[in-house]
Amino acid sequence: MTRCRRSILFVLLLLCTALFAMPVSAEPKFVLKLGHAVPEENAYHYGAVRFKELVEERTQGNVKIDIFPNNQLGTGERDILEGLQLGTIDMYVGSTGPVGGFEKRFLIFDFPFLFQNKTHVYSVLDGEIGRHILGLLESKGIRGLAWMENGFRNLTNSKRPVNGLGDIAGLKIRTQENKVHMAMWRLLGADPTPMAWSEVFTALQQGTIDGQENPIPVIYTSKLFEVQKYLALTQHVFSPAMIAVAQPVFMSLPKEYQTIFMAAAQEAALYQREVCDKMEHEYIETLKKNGMEVTTPDIEPLREASKKVYEDFRGELGDVAELLDNIISAKP
Ligand code: PAF
Repeated sequence: MTRCRRSILFVLLLLCTALFAMPVSAEPKFVLKLGHAVPEENAYHYGAVRFKELVEERTQGNVKIDIFPNNQLGTGERDILEGLQLGTIDMYVGSTGPVGGFEKRFLIFDFPFLFQNKTHVYSVLDGEIGRHILGLLESKGIRGLAWMENGFRNLTNSKRPVNGLGDIAGLKIRTQENKVHMAMWRLLGADPTPMAWSEVFTALQQGTIDGQENPIPVIYTSKLFEVQKYLALTQHVFSPAMIAVAQPVFMSLPKEYQTIFMAAAQEAALYQREVCDKMEHEYIETLKKNGMEVTTPDIEPLREASKKVYEDFRGELGDVAELLDNIISAKP
């Protein structure tokens, strides 16, 4: 081979390498904004990042997902969800806590001490009931893609260790904007104050409220140990989370991308649940190391005191009320 031919071949080889290295799509066709309410250290963010990676890879860069953590797109989860309905935000990862405000049947998961453990949770969420409830969002302009998790909620406060029902009396506790949660805390003798998540740290710091309730990963990653001395492992409500997309955005995607979204969301959800569960176990010790006093109150008196919620709110569940009995009887 002549020297000239070798050079031409070399240049061709370089060109081919450059062509293959280039992304198939230089400019994404869809750029979506995904918002969540917690710091990047939280398991929601891990789930969101995994979803982003899967979708961007499988659509060969034609869909780009930009993630906005820590309430950058709203004051809290209700606000972000409203953004999906208004068309200002495309995607959401977060709890179902505020959803009962616009789709009452979602309140089904907010009943106290409903789930025994995570096996019970996922036998319901990954089954017919879970699919049915997630599907109810479509008429509200939101497409639920998969169930992620926030975890079992626990009580923290700055006043005293909670060893039993009597210690909860009179505590001013921030709750989610959720009437079932509020009713439960009233029955337990507390003074519930609903508040957007972005305001909670400052309210705890300034003593406007005494406490709040959230899963362990939130308590640690949002650094609540800096403003709360006492953690009681009450596990009073399992807080599901979901990854969701605005329905018009979902419908604007080609069918094959819709399929990619559904599969990527389920895979990301399984990963997110694992990360969250690991954090839920590991961070109790970390919180103790950071100065929190941890108690494990007997939950039977709490369960007994709050059971009137079932009577008072069953009627709000409309045509899914009987699923409440199915959830209870699904317990492993
Ligand atoms: O308490 C809440 O509002 C939620 O649990 C939070 C912290 C935003 C995570 O979903």
